[in-house]
Amino acid sequence: MADLMLLGLFDNVETTADVIDDVRDLGVSDAQLEVLSNIPYPAKFFGLKTPGLMFWPFVFGGAILGALVAYFITFITPDLYPIHVGGQELTPVPPTAIMFFEFISLFSMLGAFIGFLLQNRFPILVREMYDELITDGYIGVQVQIEESVAEQVIGVFEKHHAHKINRELASEFKPQGIRHLFFWGAVAGGGLVVMLVPLLVSYEKIPLPWINKMNQTVVVGYQEGPRLAAPEEAVPFQGPRLIAGQPGTEPLEATESSIARGAALFQLHCAICHGETAQGDGPLSGYYTADHGFPVGVPALAGKGYPGSYIFEVVTNGRVGQTDDGTEFIKMPSLVENVSPGDTWDIINYINSLDAE
Ligand code: HEC
Repeated sequence: MADLMLLGLFDNVETTADVIDDVRDLGVSDAQLEVLSNIPYPAKFFGLKTPGLMFWPFVFGGAILGALVAYFITFITPDLYPIHVGGQELTPVPPTAIMFFEFISLFSMLGAFIGFLLQNRFPILVREMYDELITDGYIGVQVQIEESVAEQVIGVFEKHHAHKINRELASEFKPQGIRHLFFWGAVAGGGLVVMLVPLLVSYEKIPLPWINKMNQTVVVGYQEGPRLAAPEEAVPFQGPRLIAGQPGTEPLEATESSIARGAALFQLHCAICHGETAQGDGPLSGYYTADHGFPVGVPALAGKGYPGSYIFEVVTNGRVGQTDDGTEFIKMPSLVENVSPGDTWDIINYINSLDAE
């Protein structure tokens, strides 16, 4: 068991190299030897081997980690929260390839960097057998040996005129291993927390009120109640319904299917007043009498030959009447919110396909 630490101080490189040769002859291995100096001499100056750095496992490990992260972002999250945009695949190939490239590059660089630090035994967390003379330019040869060999090593130091020899118990110098494990464990743990906290916030596992106002926004899905009325200034996506009092859209051709659609829509929106076949005899028509201020009643529409643009305008604006004292009242409500321009043309085709009875 190695239980003594010796430090001999020498004033030049050649002597130090000779000392190391002689100490080696005593059966001391390179692992027990350490050269301390204030100038970073290459190890080969002292006949020591430069420890070869092994990067590829770190680079390779980093690349695999990067690929996993890219896989998570490009395959797993879009599957968990699917948003289909423009008929695209959830994981389209070109951007996915870019993500993989980026993450693999980034993480292999990170791996190489961490590997470099690890292999250089960063950070030094233990006390080294330091002597202030080293700062003044002396070179220290530190040897860790069993007590039985100590005298021989000291003999070598003295033979080469060591400026000073320090000896201490090796048990004073704990190995770095455990401390390193703690250090890198703490770094990894800290990194994990730094990565997890934003995720927890964005998935609202940790709700921060100022981050996301989305949950306070009223969202009304398509045909989900309550339907909100369009704002006053809103223009339908087909464009304005009426331009200068005329339909803003082209009539639809009176095909069989258009008339069939029109029939169904007419039953839905108009028949309650105008009657199933537009004879002016719907269930509500009984109410539209002169007594209630409707001298005309509900007019028949079938066989009248009204131009499409006329019907279109009435459906859009409705009909407003006036009482004798001039107050306005609704005779036929505007159905602009209920019937789209296309549907209106279907209804018109249906009306024009009917004959008066
Ligand atoms: C709530 C009852 C009611 C509904 C629903 C209704 N109308 Fe009317 N409509 C009337 C009344 C009442 C008049 C007569 C207005 C007047 O006296 O000027 C009328 C007038 C009309 C006129 C003018 C007729 C003319 O002789 O000048 C047309 C065209 C018309 N409606 C089409 C429609 C169409 C198409 C629908 C369905 C999309 C519809 N209406 C839905 C009550 C209704």
